[in-house]
Parts: sequence; C-alpha cells; structure tokens
Amino acid sequence: MKKIAIASDHGGFDLKESVIAHLLNDGWEIDDLGPSSEDSVDYPDYGVKLAEAIANKKVERGIVICGTGVGMSIVVNRFPGIRGTLCSDVYTAKMCREHNDSNILIMGGRVIGKGLASEIVDTWLSTEFEGGRHQRRLDKINEIDANLKSKSPGQAR
Ligand code: RB5
Repeated sequence: MKKIAIASDHGGFDLKESVIAHLLNDGWEIDDLGPSSEDSVDYPDYGVKLAEAIANKKVERGIVICGTGVGMSIVVNRFPGIRGTLCSDVYTAKMCREHNDSNILIMGGRVIGKGLASEIVDTWLSTEFEGGRHQRRLDKINEIDANLKSKSPGQAR
C-alpha cells in the first residue's frame, strides 16, 4: 500500500484537504497529522509532527503545507535527515526528487492553486532519486549534521 503523511497549519488547511482527496482517489493511504479544522494553530507544532514521522521512519515521505510554505520549510529542515523542499512549480518538484532526494514536499496554500498543487504532488511522488553524483552531495549534507552534533554544547567529545 502506498502510504504518505500530511500536515498543515490553518493557512494550508484547505489545500491539505484537497491534496488528501486527490491522493485517496489515487489509492494512497494517508496519515493525516492534522489539524482537523481551519482554526488558527502554530505551524511549528504541525511541522514537528510531520518531520518526526519521517525522521522516526514511521513513513518514508510526507507533505506539509502552510500559508507560504516558508514557515514549514524552516521547521522541518531543522531535523537531521530531512530534505524538505518548497515547490510552487512542477519543474522544481521533479528536480528536487532527482537531485535532492526530497523526502518532504512543502507547499504554500496561499500561493498556489489546487490544480497546480495536484500536478506538483503527482510529479514529486512519481520521480525517482538519480543517485550518483547527487548522492555524494547528500553525503556532504549528512556530514554537516554529524559535525554539528559532535560540536553541540553538552555533547561528550
Ligand atoms: C499563518 O498566518 C502563516 O504565517 C503561516 O501559514 C505561514 O505562511 C508561515 O510561514
């Protein structure tokens, strides 16, 4: 079964519901991490839920939506191993899979329309990572995480 996690804040709620309907129609199992209404919430709370689901390997990939996608981008990319990519066009959705092995798709619910969002989602879900020289670059990002972790205060040396 194809499974994906999804979350938003109030600014992304309407687009989240549209993306869920689109994916259910396409046979995906959805782990909807909320919110369940358009009431105002704080985007870090839902960005963390989504990022943790991926970082803890509960699900391989996820989609997260706020008003612009910027707040969610800042939040999810604080987690080691997360490669969240903000997409407002289909080309970026394709390239961020091929070159960056994006594991979280981020969109702005106040920026793009539902039709474009569905095309972005379909492209992002169906495009494979190319590996090769791109893997070497991802390895360097993982090294950054490892170096920062070893230098952080309170860590044994
Ligand atoms: C909420 O008003 C808005 O700030 C949020 O959805 C997001 O765009 C933040 O980056």
